[in-house]
Amino acid sequence: MSSLFTEFILKKLPVKNRIVFPPVVCFHYAGADGIVTTRNTQHYQEIATGGAGIIITEATAVCKDGRLAPFQLGIWSDEHIPGMGQIAATVKGKGAVSLLQIHHAGLITNDQVSEFARGPSVSSNNPRSAALTIEEIEEIRNAFIEAARRAQKAGYQGVELHGAHGYLLNQFASSFFNKREDDYGGTLVNNLRLATDIIHGIRQKCGDDFIIGYRLGANSPTLEDGIAIALHLEQAGVDLLHVSHGGSLLNLPRTPAGFNYNWIIFSGTVIKQHSGIPVIVVNEIKTAERAEWLIGNNLADFVALGRPQLADPDWVNHIKNNEAINQCLGCKPRCRWYEDSKLCPARIKATKDS
Ligand SMILES: Cc1cc2nc3c(=O)[nH]c(=O)nc-3n(C[C@H](O)[C@H](O)[C@H](O)COP(=O)(O)O)c2cc1C
Repeated sequence: MSSLFTEFILKKLPVKNRIVFPPVVCFHYAGADGIVTTRNTQHYQEIATGGAGIIITEATAVCKDGRLAPFQLGIWSDEHIPGMGQIAATVKGKGAVSLLQIHHAGLITNDQVSEFARGPSVSSNNPRSAALTIEEIEEIRNAFIEAARRAQKAGYQGVELHGAHGYLLNQFASSFFNKREDDYGGTLVNNLRLATDIIHGIRQKCGDDFIIGYRLGANSPTLEDGIAIALHLEQAGVDLLHVSHGGSLLNLPRTPAGFNYNWIIFSGTVIKQHSGIPVIVVNEIKTAERAEWLIGNNLADFVALGRPQLADPDWVNHIKNNEAINQCLGCKPRCRWYEDSKLCPARIKATKDS
C-alpha cells in the first residue's frame, strides 16, 4: 500500500493520510471585515472533498492593523467565530483534521490597513516601519492567544502559528530582522520569547488536546538557526512543525548531490531528523511519486501540496484511485491564485475540457 495513505495519530487525533493542504490565502473572497463568505466555505468544501488528511485554513489575521492585505480573513473579534465555524465544520465533515493558520504581518503590514508597519526593529528598506514597544508586543501576544481561543470555539482542532515567510513571528525569531537589545532580542531565547509566550498562553487557554502547529522559516537566518528554533519550539509545547522558508534569500542551505528536491524540502528533512515531533515538508513536491518517496523513506511525517491541490481540488482522491490529475501549470512569475483563482489556467482548462 502507498505510504501516503497510512493513518497517523497526531496527539490523539487520527489523520487519514499523510497529505496536507497548506495555508493558501484567497484574497478578495472575504471583504474588508475579514468575515468568512460563501465563497470561502465553498472553496474549503471543494478542497476537503478532495481528500487531504489535514487542511490548514489560510493565513488569518489576529489584528486588524496587522494584515498583509485589506481583504484577508480575520479572527480579531468574536464576530469572526460563526464564519470560521462553517469552514471548520465543512473540513471535519469530510474527515480531515482542521487547523487554522493565525498570522500577523509585522514589518510587511499592508499600507492600506495601517500607516505603520510594526515589527521587532525598524527595517532600513521600509520607511513605514517602526519598532514595537513592550506594551504593543504584549498586546499582539494576547491577540494570538485570543485568536486561538476563538478558533477552538469555532470548532478547529488546532492552530498553526505563521512563523515563516518573513512575517512577524519570523521577524522576531530571525536575527536577520530582529536587532533588539531588550528581552525580545539578542539571543535565541529572547528572539523566541514572543512565540514561546503565545504557545504557553494557548496551551493554558485551549488545553492539552488542542493542536499547536508552527510554520517556521528554515533559514532564519541559517538552517542551523532553523534547527535550534525547531528544538526550542518543541520544548515550548508545539505539537507539529511545518517547515518553509524564512523570508530572506540569504544563507540558503545547499542540497546534497543526488537529492532531487529544493532546499526548503531538504531543510524540512533535516529538521525532521533532529525533532521529536511530527514534521510537514512542503514546496514543489508536485507529484505523488515525489511525495511517496519522502514519506516512504521516513524523511517527513506529512507532505503538503499547495498548488497541485489548487489546480485539482480532487488531487488526493485521484492519486488514491489511480486516476488522471489536472496538472498545475506552474505559472510564472507567480501563481495566479494570488490575484484571483478564476485566472488559474489549469482550472480554466479543466472547465473547458469537461
Ligand atoms: C496563492 C498562494 C497563497 C498562499 N498563501 C499562504 C498563506 O496564507 N500562508 C502560508 O503560510 N503560505 C501561503 N502560501 C504558500 C503555500 O502554503 C506553500 O508553501 C507554497 O505554495 C509551496 O507549496 P507548493 O509548491 O506545493 O504550492 C501561499 C501560496 C500560494 C500559491
